[in-house]
Amino acid sequence: MTITVNSRTATHPIEPVFLNRWSPRAFTGEPIAEPELLSLLEAGRWAPSAFNAQPWHFIYARRDTPAWEKLLGLLNDFNRSWAQAASALVVVASKTTLQAPGATEETPSYTHSFDAGAAWGAIALQAAYSGWQAHGMAGFDHERARKDLNIPENYRVEMAFAVGRVGDKSILPEVLQQREIPSPRKPLAEIATEGSFDRG
Ligand SMILES: Cc1cc2nc3c(=O)[nH]c(=O)nc-3n(C[C@H](O)[C@H](O)[C@H](O)COP(=O)(O)O)c2cc1C
Repeated sequence: MTITVNSRTATHPIEPVFLNRWSPRAFTGEPIAEPELLSLLEAGRWAPSAFNAQPWHFIYARRDTPAWEKLLGLLNDFNRSWAQAASALVVVASKTTLQAPGATEETPSYTHSFDAGAAWGAIALQAAYSGWQAHGMAGFDHERARKDLNIPENYRVEMAFAVGRVGDKSILPEVLQQREIPSPRKPLAEIATEGSFDRG
């Protein structure tokens, strides 16, 4: 049984929110109330992580607040060009060490980035569920983010994301208007194999 939502077709039944979540660049620029943004981050808080270490840390700025320009200024020119119409910007960092159960010292974590990715995924889904969208960004100055946002050495700067309400794509330059459509995916059979990585 297939399900088609948001111009996307899943070949096996899933909840519609997985298809409704996407990464738009046309945002309305409307403000987001802090409790609404915190609801999205709350969803990330409940993500699973190895040893329940919860290595993620979210640094956020809402538009029209003092921190907004600081975070917006970290983005590369391309991302800043569209993300300036977002409602909030968030930088995600993850703690690279953890204290395993029974251990007395911190040791390197194998999964900190993976765990932070799970949290980001939950946030993006909650955003879509709540009538917002979150658009991930690798394109920003990671070292400046560390410095300007006081991110400690034992945290990795992972990614940033913009949160906003989807706007009319006519606000974007022509080249970006053409890309303003939910993207497809590889076939499931290409990324999921039974018993071995290859099909033998
Ligand atoms: C970690 C991460 C980094 C990304 N970096 C950027 C970026 O710098 N600029 C951008 O426009 N989109 C960026 N994206 C968005 C992806 O291109 C997008 O998620 C992907 O094409 C799938 O499309 P969808 O999210 O609409 O399903 C990033 C997404 C993720 C998860």
